[in-house]
Amino acid sequence: MKIAVTGATGTQGGAVARLLSSRGHDVRRVTRNPKHANDVHGDFNDPASLRHAFQGVDGVFLMTPLSDPREVAQGKAAVDAARHVPHVVFTSATNADRGTGIPHFDTKAEIERHLAAHHPHWTVLGPAAFMGREGPVALPIPPDLELFLIAPEDIAAMAVLAFEQPDRFRNRRIDIASDRRTGQEMAAVRGTEFVQIPLAQAEKYSADLAAMFRHHTEIGLDLDLAALHAEFPEVGWHSYESWVSGRAARRPE
Ligand SMILES: NC(=O)c1ccc[n+]([C@@H]2O[C@H](COP(=O)([O-])OP(=O)(O)OC[C@H]3O[C@@H](n4cnc5c(N)ncnc54)[C@H](OP(=O)(O)O)[C@@H]3O)[C@@H](O)[C@H]2O)c1
Repeated sequence: MKIAVTGATGTQGGAVARLLSSRGHDVRRVTRNPKHANDVHGDFNDPASLRHAFQGVDGVFLMTPLSDPREVAQGKAAVDAARHVPHVVFTSATNADRGTGIPHFDTKAEIERHLAAHHPHWTVLGPAAFMGREGPVALPIPPDLELFLIAPEDIAAMAVLAFEQPDRFRNRRIDIASDRRTGQEMAAVRGTEFVQIPLAQAEKYSADLAAMFRHHTEIGLDLDLAALHAEFPEVGWHSYESWVSGRAARRPE
């Protein structure tokens, strides 16, 4: 299959592009700065470049860049540019469709609605927080609050499964997480400290992220981890421990 991957130089798109290539698919890596043979120029602020990047592909992996106030316009333009692509897999966020009031969740919900309304064949994946950060675990949440976490490799495994088994994923929205850990547990696995940042301090840095952590603390995300893992065992979901211990080996990628 020929798949265009947006955000291919980033966390999610990078993992998706690598897994697709390793499974023998023809990957078109969409980036603003093409450098390699499989790279194609595409800018979310330039719909014509997206239409060109998506021409003739069997599928598009669509992400939207973080914290850009133009996220909705960019996402909708990308969906429109992919109108004639047989299958669009959009990566959103866990429970983004629930009217949480978290700004960067609500923007994704708007893109999800546009996709469902305008594309005959779509899949939405709703990933939890990425397992990726290094250094001390410093978060504006109580130390014993459990967070849903996901390995970028597991996002990629779900996305690739969706492209390879389109009927199983047709017009479905699936929230995804690999594991669930408290901040204290994460810090212990990484051999570091848990630092609880005051929410007021987080708010000064980003009202959007502070709203998300307030939601995690006061309401929490709704995701049935056991049912998800039972339905998609072929993903080989990472535990937090297995992901952290494998990180050093993955670094050269
Ligand atoms: N971090 C988390 O825990 C988490 C959890 C759930 C959902 N999310 C969502 O994940 C998204 C970010 O994904 P990520 O972490 O995989 O991205 P990332 O690693 O931050 O990389 C950003 C990517 O976006 C591309 N990009 C940025 N501006 C662009 C533009 N104008 N046109 C085309 N490409 C552009 C960059 O490509 P070039 O620079 O090569 O053009 C790069 O590949 C955000 O929407 C965030 O809300 C994050």
